[in-house]
Amino acid sequence: MTQITTYIGTSNHGFAQYAQDEIRKLFPLTKFTLLVPTEVFLFEVPEGTEDAITTIKEQEPIFLRHIQPVLQDWEITGTEVDLEHLKSWLNNAYAAGLLHSGEKIAIQVRKEERADVPYAPFSVKAALDEILVSEIHAEPVVRYADQIISIYINAKKLFVGLSKPADNLSDWSGGAIRFMKEEDQISRAKFKLLEAEQRFGIDFSIARTALDIGAAPGGWTSLLLERGLQVTAIDPAAMSPRLLGNSSLKIYKKNASDVKLRDNEFDLLVCDMSWDPRQMGRLVADLLYSLQSGGTAIITVKLMHKKPFQTVRDILRILEPSLFLLKAKQLFHNREELTLYLQKM
Ligand SMILES: C[S@@+](CC[C@H](N)C(=O)[O-])C[C@H]1O[C@@H](n2cnc3c(N)ncnc32)[C@H](O)[C@@H]1O
Repeated sequence: MTQITTYIGTSNHGFAQYAQDEIRKLFPLTKFTLLVPTEVFLFEVPEGTEDAITTIKEQEPIFLRHIQPVLQDWEITGTEVDLEHLKSWLNNAYAAGLLHSGEKIAIQVRKEERADVPYAPFSVKAALDEILVSEIHAEPVVRYADQIISIYINAKKLFVGLSKPADNLSDWSGGAIRFMKEEDQISRAKFKLLEAEQRFGIDFSIARTALDIGAAPGGWTSLLLERGLQVTAIDPAAMSPRLLGNSSLKIYKKNASDVKLRDNEFDLLVCDMSWDPRQMGRLVADLLYSLQSGGTAIITVKLMHKKPFQTVRDILRILEPSLFLLKAKQLFHNREELTLYLQKM
């Protein structure tokens, strides 16, 4: 008999349909049930967990931000009984050897707005953390866990699952990665590059020189300067006054098509121009002579025409003679866009 395993998938708001299309390509017989329109859905795959997760990780869908397994679910009673279900599930999981003393365990609780239950996510987490400490002798953590217990509460049901952080695609609850806003932060766009750095596991500090195309007001530039790079920023719009006079920064206050650079001058190229993707692709392609062989490129692609897969194919056709795609991902901080992580041939 085929084993069926169940997961909750999350995408950015408005993109669940694309995440589902990608999952259906991996597992044609998948059954979907929408939990939050255009954003969160339940899916059942006719494969065991290990095979399903391996396939998802090896061919990671662009629009699937986060997955959490569902090992058990209960009808919501809206009373303390719900918490009792979770507590006994936790004790049973320990007794069954799924959790171990000394492990770092993160309990992540998500509740839909529509779920009218008398307990808040933090109180569910607090009740289960107490059991982790007093009965299981495990260490409750928020990040860098050995295992994550994911709880999802909606108006009808309570779902629980257990997984390794990497198997969730993101170790943040629902893939909603949060960064502290700095007091003097130049732009919110900085979060996109911070997230790309984490999500793609890039160490910007090993690069020496970076080209930032469409740089103003300078959030991405400021991050690269913080990582110790020499940055060349191109934008006809003004850079933040806070960046002016920095000896590691050269600014061309120009349209990128009017700038002449040196061959192989940079080992990192970033581009966050909110522009028509094909025009942006051609503009970047024209400047690729300045990126060293083996150099990295991070490019945000605006999804203007609501045909994201076609847009990615079009832009790769323009870039791929010189760059190859390492990963395409819609990041949590991407709005109507996605991010490409590429390398120069
Ligand atoms: C979303 S903003 C970039 C934000 C920036 N990454 C940050 O972190 O602050 C897009 C920028 O692209 C610039 N841009 C658009 N077309 C351009 C072009 N042809 N050449 C250079 N910059 C361009 C715009 O002027 C705008 O400042």
